[in-house]
This record gives sequence, structure tokens and C-alpha cells, in this order.
Amino acid sequence: VRRPLVAGNWKMNLDLASARELVSSLAAKLPAEPSAEILVCPPFIYLFPMAKAVNETPIRMGAQNLWPEPKGAFTGECSARMVRKTGCTHVILGHSERRHTIGWTDPEGSVHGEDDSLINRKVHAALGEGLVPVFCVGETLRQRDKGEMEAVISRQVVAGLNGLRPEQVAGLVIAYEPVWAIGTGRTASPEQAAEAHRHIRRVVFEQYGGEAAAGVRILYGGSVTPENAESLMNNEDVDGVLVGGASLHADDFFAIIQACISVKDRG
Ligand code: 13P
Repeated sequence: VRRPLVAGNWKMNLDLASARELVSSLAAKLPAEPSAEILVCPPFIYLFPMAKAVNETPIRMGAQNLWPEPKGAFTGECSARMVRKTGCTHVILGHSERRHTIGWTDPEGSVHGEDDSLINRKVHAALGEGLVPVFCVGETLRQRDKGEMEAVISRQVVAGLNGLRPEQVAGLVIAYEPVWAIGTGRTASPEQAAEAHRHIRRVVFEQYGGEAAAGVRILYGGSVTPENAESLMNNEDVDGVLVGGASLHADDFFAIIQACISVKDRG
């Protein structure tokens, strides 16, 4: 059975005081051993203080990025080991806001411009340090409208996970985040999410076999709220959610956690 995972991607939000407050009010609501795994992903510079804040709570911590080389002249970057040493267990990789940033320049244009092969190097670096990658994939609106959703996701999964062993893939987290649903309030319908998740699991099966496909957890991300979490989670291929905006409010994030737990406990 795949343990559900509810992850909060804080992106470039919160100050340190409000981050601490968020974690402590969330921890106060959670049971000692929640049946879902709970993850928060603060900006790099909050990782050390947040490690203290999540200590002795069921909340785990992930970074939002890393650089694949172990050290060297990479101004502004952090290695996988640096990330792990802060106390992170997970790292988000290949987020669409790093592949390309919508609404900043050309809607399909590129600010950070991370491509599949760079993201693949990051996945290897993370696994080499024992970090669990939360590996993000998803199509843009233009790609969906052209009927390319499956092709885009196949390419991202195949290239991004290239060279991994099946047991490494089994331990991974993949997040399906349709770019058009991120920060837009326009959530994928449960049917659209189910279709994409089924496709991702099929691609993993074809590439890495049955154990990898049965083990890999696939999260949905994109305008998840307390209101829609339950219907999104209500599918056997949806193993959790990756939450942006709603993870910045303890009450909303906790309500999403509860929705996920209740759906999965019902079986
Ligand atoms: P929102 O939940 O704000 O749409 O963000 C989703 C996301 O990008 C999580 O990584």
C-alpha cells in the first residue's frame, strides 16, 4: 500500500516568524502518527531554522531545488549534500516554475530554463544523497489544447528518470502539475487528474516494470484547496497532493491533510 503524501510547496513566500508559526500551529493539530506523510518545502534560507521547528513533529521537510554537482563555482546554488545536511528528507525537482515561468515573459518562455537532462542530473544527485525527489511533470495549456498531454508527460518522465534502477523509481514521488492549473484557481477535474496519473503509472510500468509502478507515489498539484482535495484524492492512482497557495495557511493545509487521510482510510 502506498502511504499518502501531502506536501506544501511554499515557493518564495512567508517570513521566518510566520513560517515558524505555520509549522507550530500545524503540528499542534496533527496526531502523533498521522497515516499520511506530511511535508513542507521552505525556501533554502529557512531550512536550518525550520529543521528545528519540525523536529519532534510528524512534519518532514524538503527543499525546492538543488544543484547536481557536489561542489564548486556555482554561485547561488546548493548541492544535494548541503540540502540533506539541513535536515531535509525530500527535494522538489523539475517544478514548472523552474522549467519555465508562466506570466513572466513569454507564457511558454523560459526564465530558469531547466531542461529534462539537467533535471535528470538533479534526480541522480538527490538519490545519491538519500533524498527523495518529488519530481514534477505537467503540460502547458497550449500543449493540452494540441492534444499533447500524454506525449509531453511521457517525454518528461522517460528523460527525467533516465538511468534509474527500478527500486529507485519505486521509492520516488512524481507530482503531476498541469501548468495551466498552478496558481490559477483552475483545478484539473478529478477525471483529468485520474487520466494523467494513470498515464504516468503506465509509462513507469513500461520503463521500469511492475514493482516500480506499484511503489511510485504520484501526487496531484495545481490549485488544490480544502474544497477540492477529497474529489481529487478519490482515485486509486492519486497518492497525495502537492499544494502551493493553500499550504501557506495552517487551517487550509490541515483541512487538505484531513481530506486526504479520510479518503485513503476509507480505502
Ligand atoms: P498552487 O497550489 O498555488 O496552484 O501551486 C501548485 C504548485 O505549484 C505546487 O508545487
